[in-house]
Amino acid sequence: MLLKDYALALVPKRLRDSLDAYGEIFTVFAQIRDPKVLRSLAGPAARGLLFKRGKQGVPTSMPASHEAFFDWSYPSDQPEMADLYRRAKQGQWDGEHLPWHLDVDFDDPDVGIFPMDFLDWDHAARLGIKLDADERRRLVMDMGTWSLSQFLHGEQGALYAAAQVTEAVQFMDGKFYGATQVMDEARHVEVFSRYLADKAGKLYQINDNLFTIIDALMTDGRWDMKFLGMQIMVEGLALGAFGTLHQMTREPLLKELLANVIQDEARHVHYGVVALREHISTALTERERREREDWAFEVAMLMRNRFFAYEVYDEWFAHKLSRARWREFIAGSPGMERFRSTMFRRLVPNLREIGLLTDRIKPYYERVGLMRYFGGRAADKVSAAELLSDGESAAGFAAA
Ligand SMILES: [Fe+2]
Ligand SMILES: [Fe+2]
Repeated sequence: MLLKDYALALVPKRLRDSLDAYGEIFTVFAQIRDPKVLRSLAGPAARGLLFKRGKQGVPTSMPASHEAFFDWSYPSDQPEMADLYRRAKQGQWDGEHLPWHLDVDFDDPDVGIFPMDFLDWDHAARLGIKLDADERRRLVMDMGTWSLSQFLHGEQGALYAAAQVTEAVQFMDGKFYGATQVMDEARHVEVFSRYLADKAGKLYQINDNLFTIIDALMTDGRWDMKFLGMQIMVEGLALGAFGTLHQMTREPLLKELLANVIQDEARHVHYGVVALREHISTALTERERREREDWAFEVAMLMRNRFFAYEVYDEWFAHKLSRARWREFIAGSPGMERFRSTMFRRLVPNLREIGLLTDRIKPYYERVGLMRYFGGRAADKVSAAELLSDGESAAGFAAA
């Protein structure tokens, strides 16, 4: 046992949990190398991780300061975006037409949002987590509800980010396309919130790390940072997560809801790749590009290491089990491993495609085991049908 561990063992459990939380915040700051990135993430991280602004009730206001870009000549300036706009108009759907009448019975372990082997019960027993069959079912259900709640909070961020970017982007075809995305995101907020209210009957508060990322991109005045944060990082990862959940869940209403959302999100990430590929290669200096490259890595780390469902931990195990043990349990769960691998398999090729994964930053991705996804296809080359079959082997995935 290290001296630090002895010292920690002497402090009361409650205080130990707080120290653990502050320790995590410190690691976020300590690893940031670029002072500009540190400056742009420090405010959001203080608001999200330290002051927990996302957990202080409604409303949260975030100051937005970006420039609206007008073009009085209405050019047809970006054929790929014009094509996405056409496809988006044809792909509109109505959330009210989903089979809401289906009676979703979450007491049946075969129908849950997640399958029961989402969590590793042998690992739980080794960590001293003792639950009976009904408690296990409820814990898996809460993990599913927690995940859907985070999707919903992300969708609210996407709605406002899409609106801001529609104003700020310089491509006229991008503005037309962006307007369809605003509509799409409103529909996603509508269907996820309806599902959580009517079927799951529960809504978790926003995770502090997700709040930090949303705060960072909403308050940054540069449209391409909003775009990078929302279209590439948050949506890119969400798309992987939606695909995995679509494969994993046996709940028919949720499956259909996700299939519809995935079709929209595939266009959103495609748009992000097209817009940023052009912008980063033509409009930025090398120094500006490097800043974005570092920012993307830090945000990827925020998302990779820190989605530990502490909101579920607080409800079930606070002061009974250490945060470190919970982290170990969640990080090693077959379901979370599946999520992480699909999310980064989708994200990493997009970062490469837009020019934010050069030789300079590769060793950092290598160190955290993400370079194995480098050669994959970017969002502009992946069809919605392929995204729907993401994690095809997910059924019984504990063995995978
Ligand atoms: Fe969305
Ligand atoms: Fe989206």
